[in-house]
Amino acid sequence: MRVLGIETSCDETGVAIYDTDRGLLADALYSQVAMHAEFGGVVPELASRDHTRRLLPLIQQVLDEAGMARSELDAIAYTAGPGLVGALMVGASTAHGMARALAIPVLGVHHMEGHLMAPMLEDSPPDFPFVALLVSGGHTQLVEVRGQGRYRLLGESVDDAAGEAFDKTAKMLGLAYPGGPQVARLAETGDPKRFRFPRPMTDRPGLDFSFSGLKTHTLTTLKQLERDGQLDEQARADVARAFEEAVVDTLVIKCRRALDDTGLKRLVMAGGVSANARLRERLAHEAEKRSAQVYYPRGRFCTDNGAMIALAGARRLLAGERDAIGQMKAVPRWP
Ligand code: KG4
Ligand code: ZN
Repeated sequence: MRVLGIETSCDETGVAIYDTDRGLLADALYSQVAMHAEFGGVVPELASRDHTRRLLPLIQQVLDEAGMARSELDAIAYTAGPGLVGALMVGASTAHGMARALAIPVLGVHHMEGHLMAPMLEDSPPDFPFVALLVSGGHTQLVEVRGQGRYRLLGESVDDAAGEAFDKTAKMLGLAYPGGPQVARLAETGDPKRFRFPRPMTDRPGLDFSFSGLKTHTLTTLKQLERDGQLDEQARADVARAFEEAVVDTLVIKCRRALDDTGLKRLVMAGGVSANARLRERLAHEAEKRSAQVYYPRGRFCTDNGAMIALAGARRLLAGERDAIGQMKAVPRWP
């Protein structure tokens, strides 16, 4: 089955074609990051308008890349939520319109299931069951995954998502949006011993996270440095480093606990923050200590993309799932 995947939930227009026998045939992405950067965050109305401009040309691009005609598509999968409602509607209505015209099945999929399945795009994909750490701009969750759709939420953030904390810290440090990669870059030159930031909610049992206190701690530290006339480039790097260490340490502690609690030996990492090099390094080390395996997608499939939606949708479409004709779904909040 050759499935066209469409992702438009936020600020990336992602399109891909996934073949259930041969794997990924083509994949293309248009990022709106530069357009939103001057506003310091995603402007929903601009995002929707840009998706309408980019989507059809990108679909043509992946068809050309795969050497396929539209009529050779067997099904379409699109992100139905969660996300920005206007942005979601662009993908949903395009998917439903095309599917109707081509008389093929169409299915709306959950954005986070896409992230969760992204490591399956790689050469040695994880087998079920596994523990998944989903860390993006909107979510921080630990999930026990027994199969596609067989999920048990082990823990999640009670306030900010890890990526959101990275983005807000970047703003405090005067770095551009999206901040995660920039904070990580600045942290490379920081001294890990100068500051020690709190590891929220690690001193009590459970697998929930909290990152808003850490954000406040970062702000207080920066203000104090400024008052003392010590907020130079090195101090900013040291703060970035302390912040990154605290987030990574918190995530590692909870992953370790999740593996112990479930007795599972496979850990899947996905979502934008899983691109963080320090997090990967620390988790690889932890996994080795307990002879567990860590899986994550290649960099470009950590953040939003069409390939993960094509793959997650293809597996469900193959099992016979589809939207009813005309029942396009755009669900901004979808647990
Ligand atoms: O999954 P994603 O592309 O979009 C959402 O669905 O949210 O994740 C984007 C998030 C942003 O908050 C971004 O700052 C963060 O992932 N991120 C990183 C890194 N790369 C992206 N955070 C830390 N380190 C990175 N290298
Ligand atoms: Zn995402």
